[in-house]
Amino acid sequence: MPLTNHFSESQMFPNGTGAGIVLEAVDLCMTFEEGGGNKLEILKNINLTVKTGEKVAIVGASGSGKSTLLHLLGGLDKPTSGQVFINEEDMVRMSEKKRCRVRNNYMGFVYQFHHLLAEFTAEENVAMPALVRGTSPAQALNKAGMLLDKVGMTRRVKHKPAELSGGERQRAAIARAVINEPRCICADEPTGNLDKATAEQVVQVLLRLNKEFATSLIVVTHDMELARKMDTIYSIDNGQLKAL
Ligand SMILES: Nc1ncnc2c1ncn2[C@@H]1O[C@H](COP(=O)(O)OP(=O)(O)O)[C@@H](O)[C@H]1O
Ligand SMILES: [Mg+2]
Repeated sequence: MPLTNHFSESQMFPNGTGAGIVLEAVDLCMTFEEGGGNKLEILKNINLTVKTGEKVAIVGASGSGKSTLLHLLGGLDKPTSGQVFINEEDMVRMSEKKRCRVRNNYMGFVYQFHHLLAEFTAEENVAMPALVRGTSPAQALNKAGMLLDKVGMTRRVKHKPAELSGGERQRAAIARAVINEPRCICADEPTGNLDKATAEQVVQVLLRLNKEFATSLIVVTHDMELARKMDTIYSIDNGQLKAL
């Protein structure tokens, strides 16, 4: 199904065009304790700045710490030490409640395995972050419908995830990630489970959001072709981040 080409016709993303820095990580370290009390240093003193509208790729071998880093950058987890600022707010020191609110307001997440809720329709899944934020159900569902329209899923709004193809699920997941008009989308191997053509459609949706609304992208991927579509490519190796 062709994607519609009219994101810019809507006024749904008033937040996305501010200048400046969206996200900053300072000296991030993450250590996990192994069974015998051994410490596993996964991330060592990572520093990263993501500007408004910047597209960042993070590549690295399986197990190198890409997902761990993305979760820290998105405020889903707290580091062992170091700081993460989202929209200039210190994500490490704030309360859990406030962290959820900042995340819900400024960040969008897309995962390799879509994580749509099986018992809800595409439209309801997309509406979820808006409902969490306190948007009325009618407004949230209306916006969800518009966003599904934008990702070429007009006729799939009432489908449950099991009734969607892999690419449709991932496009619904992107619609869900952007419903609160995030300043940055964190995507963890968003095309990892898709065939080449479907992956390309999903990538085009992300790139269009970036272009039209200056939504920053942080994309973890194995796919160098996708990585090369970003402005900056970093690799993680031995716990350290290097610009390629
Ligand atoms: N909660 C955890 N407890 C212990 N070890 C973990 C935990 N999460 C991740 N790890 C370990 O950290 C390493 C990096 O994991 P991950 O960030 O998922 O890698 P990647 O996404 O690059 O494949 C792996 O060796 C993994 O086993
Ligand atoms: Mg991973």
